[in-house]
Amino acid sequence: MCGIIGYVGDQSALDVALQGLRRLEYRGYDSSGIAVVGAGALRTARRAGKLANLEKLLAESPETDPMPGTTGMGHTRWATHGGPTDVNAHPHTDCTGALAVIHNGIIENFALLRAELEAGGHELTSETDTEVVAHLLEAELARVPGPVGVAGPASSADASHPLTGALRRVCRRLEGAFTLVVVHRDYPEVVVGARRNSPLVVGLGEGESFLASDVSAFIAHTREAMEIGQDQVVEARRDGVAVTDFEGQPVDNRRYHVDWDASAAEKGGYPYFMLKEINEQPTALADTLRGRLSADGAIVLDEERLSAQDFRDVDKVFIVACGTAYHAGLIAKYAVEHWTRLPCEVEMASEFRYRDPVLDRSTLVIAISQSGETLDTLMAVKHAREQKARVLAICNTNGSTIPRESDAVLYTRCGPEVGVASTKTFLGQVAACLLVGLFLAQVRGVLYGDEVAAYVERLQRMPELVRRTLGRLEPIRELARELADAKAVLFLGRHVGYPVALEGALKLKELAYMHAEGFPAGELKHGPIALIEPGLPVLVVVPSPRGRANLHGKIVSNIQEVRARGARTIVIAEDGDLAVEPYADHLIRVPETTSLFAPLVTTLPLQVFACELALARGLDVDQPRNLAKSVTVE
Ligand code: AGP
Repeated sequence: MCGIIGYVGDQSALDVALQGLRRLEYRGYDSSGIAVVGAGALRTARRAGKLANLEKLLAESPETDPMPGTTGMGHTRWATHGGPTDVNAHPHTDCTGALAVIHNGIIENFALLRAELEAGGHELTSETDTEVVAHLLEAELARVPGPVGVAGPASSADASHPLTGALRRVCRRLEGAFTLVVVHRDYPEVVVGARRNSPLVVGLGEGESFLASDVSAFIAHTREAMEIGQDQVVEARRDGVAVTDFEGQPVDNRRYHVDWDASAAEKGGYPYFMLKEINEQPTALADTLRGRLSADGAIVLDEERLSAQDFRDVDKVFIVACGTAYHAGLIAKYAVEHWTRLPCEVEMASEFRYRDPVLDRSTLVIAISQSGETLDTLMAVKHAREQKARVLAICNTNGSTIPRESDAVLYTRCGPEVGVASTKTFLGQVAACLLVGLFLAQVRGVLYGDEVAAYVERLQRMPELVRRTLGRLEPIRELARELADAKAVLFLGRHVGYPVALEGALKLKELAYMHAEGFPAGELKHGPIALIEPGLPVLVVVPSPRGRANLHGKIVSNIQEVRARGARTIVIAEDGDLAVEPYADHLIRVPETTSLFAPLVTTLPLQVFACELALARGLDVDQPRNLAKSVTVE
């Protein structure tokens, strides 16, 4: 939820931190702050509100370099404990002002720790949980002082750098989820970090090292990265990093090369990341499918760590995810059940985790997450593995936690998504789910080879259909501008159009702050139809007339039902569907597709509708209020 960057090297730490925070601001924008160690001092600056407020504060400084030094860190906050004020902004310092801490996550036992610290004479000034860490470190450093390797308690590994040893000991006392980064006035040679259930990656540069919530923060400096695992502490110096667990045992983590560069995390001429990301969808889809559809018409998922036999042993599928990723999972259910004849349940990760789902080693749990850091989904993954289920992650972020905690991972290759509202990664997730569904059917022999080949051939055409759809959405942009003052919008769909309707409603809620609901069109008459009043916009995702069980005819009736009660109907229908024309106040055409692939095109007008309507309301579509891109608290 918060964004973190730490740096040690030869550059101005202030510049590196500010640049990193600009890239990380999508993770939270309630406040921001920086700490720099240099010239024998620790300096901090922090401000409530967006990063621009902090930049203004620094620009107004009378000094040419308000924060000199080449060791430092920056933080952008999504508030949990304590409101979004200056005083609650990170970094937080100890009583002496010698050390500073930034944090992402929630320290669940902070109240007890705070009481203990206050009883011991520490003065805490903020309402945050984070501040206890600064004071616990102060106490630890006072208890175990001394230069490197001289003093240390029982554990031999604690005879390392004093700050690193102190952080390890403090982490052992913390409960909850945290990424922590610490700098100290007296130790400009190191930046020290730790993590449990929140993200932290290392950037390995030439003569410089970075600690960050994600690689975008340091991608302009280095593309060489290292994962930090659960319950680990990292000591970063100019010439490299040393990683241990919380007990001090050295660990050897995976290093990797980031396969995208700084330009991918820029706006590329668009006024908003969201607009850029909507338009990147043909490429995101093509990249996600690349190498996974063979020339002879089979699905190839050879990066799997699960064997074909593992997939043959599956007798039940659970899909767990949150928000937009959950909607991708709902679409997957239709495909998995239809193609594999396996029972498939889809559940919001936050609910799955706290009931007693019946799982065993024959259960395949598919965890979908763009960030790979969503704590609700991560906890569901851990719960599933404890029950011996096999977990396959569908994820967009290399080096993130959920893939590491899963048995296998299928990466969507959508590139970095900066806009808080998911767009291109939704398409990537749907595509990955379709690949998994077809792969399951293929290895289990439920579909004939020629049936799989027919789907493969149609999937190959989808990026082009997405590109063509994006090219014809001007009518929905105009309509969105016209509806900028609407009070509410309903979204209806059937079959895979239902999750698309849910996704359209979510996009409108989060971007335009408008009341929006998605319903199965058949459910309408069981209650929601009471919401219909003259002029209410009702957007309907219409299944193909060539689809199953006359769903098309039924939804045409549903459109008539709402229209008869005065609704203004906005109908998303495929080319050549003439039956809807008499009942559509506004008709948005999409190309013909296979029923199960239709969400890859029908979602696009809904994304554009929400984005354009929010822009017409003068809202920031990249950073909607109260939200953060990566939700690392439960
Ligand atoms: C949707 O626009 C939001 N960004 C949100 O619902 C998101 O999909 C959800 O928080 C899950 O995130 P994840 O894919 O990173 O796990």
